[in-house]
Amino acid sequence: MDLISLYPTWYEPTVGSGWVVAFIATFHVLASHTSVGAALLFAYLSHKAYREDREDLLDFIKKYGLFLLVFTYVAGSITGPGIWYSTTVASPNGIGALIHSFVWKWATEWVFFVIEVVGVYMIVYLVGKVDKRTHMKISVIFGVASLATMLIIVGILSFMMVPGKEAWFQQGGYLNGFYGENTFIQLAMRMAFMFTMTAVVGGIVVAGIKDPAFKKEMARKLGWLGIISTIIGAAMFQLYLKAVPDQALLVMENRLPSYFEPSIIAVLAGTLAYFILTMLRPQVLVQAFAGGMAVVILVAGLWPEETARESMRKPWVAGQYVYSNQVIGRDVPGMGIKSQIPLLEKEGILKAHPFTPKDLRTVNDGNVVQAGKFIAMVYCSNCHSPSKTGIRPLHRYIPDNITEARMEKYVKGVLTTGNIAYMPKMPMLDSEVKALSTFLVMNRKGGEKAVDAAIRQEIEARQQAKLAEKAKNKIAALTQENN
Ligand code: HEC
Repeated sequence: MDLISLYPTWYEPTVGSGWVVAFIATFHVLASHTSVGAALLFAYLSHKAYREDREDLLDFIKKYGLFLLVFTYVAGSITGPGIWYSTTVASPNGIGALIHSFVWKWATEWVFFVIEVVGVYMIVYLVGKVDKRTHMKISVIFGVASLATMLIIVGILSFMMVPGKEAWFQQGGYLNGFYGENTFIQLAMRMAFMFTMTAVVGGIVVAGIKDPAFKKEMARKLGWLGIISTIIGAAMFQLYLKAVPDQALLVMENRLPSYFEPSIIAVLAGTLAYFILTMLRPQVLVQAFAGGMAVVILVAGLWPEETARESMRKPWVAGQYVYSNQVIGRDVPGMGIKSQIPLLEKEGILKAHPFTPKDLRTVNDGNVVQAGKFIAMVYCSNCHSPSKTGIRPLHRYIPDNITEARMEKYVKGVLTTGNIAYMPKMPMLDSEVKALSTFLVMNRKGGEKAVDAAIRQEIEARQQAKLAEKAKNKIAALTQENN
């Protein structure tokens, strides 16, 4: 029997597994980007401190460094493994695709990451204990190592959207997968916004500076850094949109709410206004205000950016060959990877999935709803989260007087053929089309409650039948003994 590489589906009630990953990833990006930007800022400030023989700059580095150590490094180190855990269960084949292509790149990133972590301790605790020149050298190593982690991880992240070069599909090879237009534009964009984050978070440290003249100097430095990087970042975002596959743009237009664009513009304008304010009036920078603004700006800016990137990839989760629902949807001769679609077309999803419960491997009169729900969980739940009132957001699209016949026509005509840009091709046997459609209609009309009740009935009926069968066999055996 042929099985494909599917794993049990992680089903996170109401929220959906994708959002859990997005939540953890947003915090991770926040922490990691702020640290990398700060590392480069420290290299610059340390250099200046050495050239101009200034203690106050070193003191600033020490304070900002300590703040990073306590907040971003701890948050980064917790959310980093958090991303591994959550993506491994949410998207085992997606993360597997990345590991198969980039395991050594990742190992290299960790080497630099170790240097980065050791570096931040040295930067903070060696201020005043080594001469300024040595401190500058350490800062430069710290900055370069931090930037290296970023460079590597962006190559991997952009592979999720699309392999660097089209040739990768035929030839494989990690350089083909790694380097492409998308990688470099994304790198430039992230570097720009990372300085924005460094400037915003740095405001919290500036708020603590006692000497008004120095406070003003640092507020100006960070203000300029923030303004320039935000403008460059916004320009890079426009370029980035040109470097993603057309398909991704189509999905984005379909998928993102209409308030998306105005709210991004509002966040950008607000960020610029904030920097201008802090430059003109450094005295407004008190810790509570700076901290509050940091949270607002960073979360409001990052969350939409990361979710947009996630949505745009649909229907793929990695490399334009692993679908969001974990099915491998395309041949990749360069990596010896075969599409799983032909097998699914032949056997159906229930037989091909290794974790289908025994009772559900073929659809029959006694398990239609349960099999339909299983198919929906496997094929659809990654993008459409089940909730009490039904799978989201389908109640918006499926009319409430839908008939099963109409539903079947849609499932067979659109979903099994992949005749739609933003959803995967999801092959099903006719019996599976029927089961899924029955489930979808019930789910649309009666929500989770109706479905659960129907499934309970199906299970009870099956148990009754099994008991009856057992009893019959026993009677037959006894009768035989008596004869
Ligand atoms: C890769 C993610 C993904 C998967 C997997 C997926 N869908 Fe969708 N689906 C979408 C997106 C994106 C839309 C567009 C509407 C939206 O959510 O904003 C959509 C829309 C729909 C619609 C609305 C009508 C339409 O054609 O736009 C229906 C019905 C639907 N999906 C059913 C399903 C069913 C049933 C499954 C599982 C068999 C499924 N989808 C699997 C992403 C997905």
